[in-house]
Amino acid sequence: MTVAPLVGKQTESLRLATARGNLWEGAVRSSKTVCSILRWLQFVRQGPPGPLMMVGKTERTLKRNIIDPITAMVGKQRCRYRAGVGEVELFGRTIYLAGANDERAAEKIKGLTLAGAYLDEVTTYPQSFFAMLLTRLSVEGAQWFGTTNPAGSNHWLMRDYLSRAALHLTRDGETLRSQADNLLDLHRFFFKLEDNPNLPAAYVAQVKAENVGLFYRRNVLGEWVLAEGAVYSMWDETRHVVDELPPIDRWLAAGVDYGTTNPFHAGVVGLGEDRRLYLTREWRWDSRREHRQLSDVEYSASLREWLSTVPRPGETRRGVQPEYVIADPSAASFRVQLRRDGISARLGDNAVIDGIRTVSSLLALDVLRMHSSCVDVIREIGSYSWDDKASERGEDAPLKVDDHGPDMLRYALHTTRTAWRNALPAGLTPGCLTAP
Ligand SMILES: Nc1ncnc2c1ncn2[C@@H]1O[C@H](COP(=O)(O)OP(=O)(O)O)[C@@H](O)[C@H]1O
Ligand SMILES: [Mg+2]
Repeated sequence: MTVAPLVGKQTESLRLATARGNLWEGAVRSSKTVCSILRWLQFVRQGPPGPLMMVGKTERTLKRNIIDPITAMVGKQRCRYRAGVGEVELFGRTIYLAGANDERAAEKIKGLTLAGAYLDEVTTYPQSFFAMLLTRLSVEGAQWFGTTNPAGSNHWLMRDYLSRAALHLTRDGETLRSQADNLLDLHRFFFKLEDNPNLPAAYVAQVKAENVGLFYRRNVLGEWVLAEGAVYSMWDETRHVVDELPPIDRWLAAGVDYGTTNPFHAGVVGLGEDRRLYLTREWRWDSRREHRQLSDVEYSASLREWLSTVPRPGETRRGVQPEYVIADPSAASFRVQLRRDGISARLGDNAVIDGIRTVSSLLALDVLRMHSSCVDVIREIGSYSWDDKASERGEDAPLKVDDHGPDMLRYALHTTRTAWRNALPAGLTPGCLTAP
């Protein structure tokens, strides 16, 4: 990768990244990562001697988001990734790697004395891990450099750290030095999409189109705003619900949200001839409505029976073998039952916010629709809301009320994203699924 010469705020941020803590925040694709990496490379070569560390949400995302781009910039000779041992050798210095959410990560850093750290996606860390890491940066002249997209306005990173930053390179490019008491030796640099001149205009337009509501305010405008109100604020029955399905080219996935006292909800997603994703049918067992709870054996039998009737009579084919069956990640025993019955199911990806973002983007880009027979999903998706209590704590979480249809849809779509993302029309694949 050839790095184009930096301009404007990019240059300015590198010059101002002299504090103990330095954080690039703001919009997606605004060049936070590239700028922070350039500063980190400089630090690795010229900073104080001593152990260094690089941290990501997980080691896997760190590798994909940061180590791969560094390798592309400086070449394999200067950046050697050693997978098994969790280290990278950069300009001859050994750097420890850690995923902040990996169980052993806190143990790993406990005994270290660090001279520097690079931190990717800081808002995704447990606060305790971040606080511990700062205490480990005890070598004289130690610095950390990090990036993040914004989260809720009550998030710990904003509340306890960014709000007390000594220097703020603002949205408008002003450099504000705070006079408040209680300041931290922390510099924050706010980036918006326009601060990155290396993006094609069509790409910027797409990023803006697929990020709607909460995701627009955070990922495009870079605002630290609470998750409140409707989760799927872009949901529009007149656009997203259809009475007739196009011919389905691929039966991609059956999703299952499992429940015993709560409803059990299944649905089948297909790829239409028009290259949109369709929730084609749903099946729900609500034990309270039916006055009877089903066992795993009965659920499995019912699911298989139902799949054999999809699509309905009169449609081209009867009986569907979806490419994937995605089971509720918390329903391991049900998955075992399915396997006994000859269905190999995968557990759903339970990254809730990532999954919601995938579904949001698909709805916003109008590449996800559902058949009008899916009445339970249609009813629930419109009322699916963020949890105000969680927002107050600085977390993003949807209310766990009438969420069975939305959960099923999220499992079915987000878990299978690599299977369908290249099948969507050009330019209509959510960027969150293709780019790091
Ligand atoms: N100086 C640069 N030269 C070339 N490409 C750049 C430069 N700065 C940013 N880019 C490109 O812009 C895109 C977004 O940059 P990135 O740093 O990943 O943004 P962010 O971390 O804010 O999401 C990347 O694909 C990157 O390659
Ligand atoms: Mg980035």
